[in-house]
Parts: sequence; C-alpha cells; structure tokens
Amino acid sequence: MSGKRARVTVFDSGAGGLSVVRALVACGIDVDISYVADTAFFPYGDRGDAELLARLPALLDASVETTRADLLITACNTASTLALDAIRAAVRVPVVGVVPAIKPAAALTRTGVIGLLATPRTIARAYTDALIADHASHVKVLRHGPGDLALAAEQVLAGETVDPAVFERAMEGLLLQENLAGAAMDVVVLACTHYPFVREELAATRAMAGREVVFLEPGEAIARRTAALLGLPAGSGTATLGTACTTGGALSRLETLVRRFGFAATASLADSPQGG
Ligand code: DGL
Repeated sequence: MSGKRARVTVFDSGAGGLSVVRALVACGIDVDISYVADTAFFPYGDRGDAELLARLPALLDASVETTRADLLITACNTASTLALDAIRAAVRVPVVGVVPAIKPAAALTRTGVIGLLATPRTIARAYTDALIADHASHVKVLRHGPGDLALAAEQVLAGETVDPAVFERAMEGLLLQENLAGAAMDVVVLACTHYPFVREELAATRAMAGREVVFLEPGEAIARRTAALLGLPAGSGTATLGTACTTGGALSRLETLVRRFGFAATASLADSPQGG
C-alpha cells in the first residue's frame, strides 16, 4: 500500500464490531477505520436466514463503496456463518470474516469440554457444525444461544443498568448442560462480537463461582489477519478512526457508543434495495 494509508471498514449489526475495532487499534498498524452498523436490522440473532441472505451482499457492497474501503471485516458471526461466500462474491475488496473460534478452543481445552456462546442463529448454522466436525471432533462442544445477550452488551457498553439474570441465564445455559454431561467446561468461545463487552459480567455470575474458565474472543486474531493481508507489520503504525455509518432505526445508543469509542462522525448509509 505504498504511500497511501489503507482503509478498513468494520461491519456489524450493532456495536459488537467495536470489539474488533479495539483489537485493530491495539495491533498498531497504519489504517483508517470506518464502521458500519446495520442498526435498522439489529439484532441479527432474531432474523431469519432468508432475510439476512437477501440483505447482506448488497448492503456490504454499498458499505464498501460508501466508505471506499480497501478491505472489509464482517465483524459479525451471525452474518459470516451464513453469508460469507455471498458477501465475498458481491464486494470488490478482500473480506475477513469473523466465525466461532472453535479450532483454538479445541487446542486449548485440558478437560475436553468447551462452550460455544453465540446468537441463536450462529449456534444452529451448518457452518458451525462443519467447524466443529473439522476441528473439534475429539472434544465435547456445549452450545448455547441466548436471545438477549447482544442487546445487554450494548446496554452495558452504554452504562445502562442490565438485570444480572441475563448473564446468569447465559452461563447456566452452558453449565447446566455441563452438569448433565458430568464434565468440566474450561474454555468458552465468545462467538458473537458483542460478548467481549460483557466478559466480566459473565465471569462474575453465581454459576461461574469457583471455576477456572478461559473466555476466547477473536479480535486479536482478526487484527493480525488484517495486518497480514494489508502487508503491514503489527506495531508499525497507528490506526485512525473516521466515520461510523448506520442504516437507521433506534440510533441514539449506537451513535453515543461510536463517538465515545473515537469515531469522528456518524452518517446514514443508504439502505440496501432489499433492506427492510
Ligand atoms: N455481533 C453479532 C455477532 O457476532 C450479532 C449480534 C446480533 O445482532 O444479534 O453475531
């Protein structure tokens, strides 16, 4: 990228992709980062496959065009596990997807039991089944898909009060399965980009008392992959944050969050033709 700073656009349904932005900034590379949040359609965990498949390729193509990106990070497991091929076919720049970190979790576990915490859609996807079959057939994978955790993460990030029962239920959803299986889960894959923002709340639940569990999040690996694709050595530069675009809907929380994160301005992205 001689002479010109690379432009990277990070996409998510809402604020979850900010966990990937945080990792990109920490990686220390000369990139200009834009953010696109599909606020009009949030949360994706409630959306059917057909409506997401009809929406995502055109929306991400428009995102890349509007932000003039050199590289797109689909920082959403729910979108990536469904539509990565269709997105790659639609956009004209390299696409880095974010999918459940099953392989590193399977390599890390000492007890042979890992948990997969993701949206209800992501845990049920054929893509997720294939990841488990390819990389974790030798371990037990407990899956749980809480419907309310992504929104709770946005609320926590915004400093709003959230009922702790949301986090308790999320961990019980894994640990009660564990009890039935009679095994000890020692690694949890945070396979929704929102969840790193509630890692402490999850770790502090009663259900987790006295347990040693590693929570895996993908941000650092995604940042390293991005740096490699752009030919930029980690630690060689400084990222800058530009504009955050949204697709409408209830915007005030997201706008506050992206500005607090350091994005200079917010703008509205023209909705995709198929969009709702
Ligand atoms: N952050 C998204 C993910 O990684 C989805 C959250 C949602 O919109 O339900 O799956």
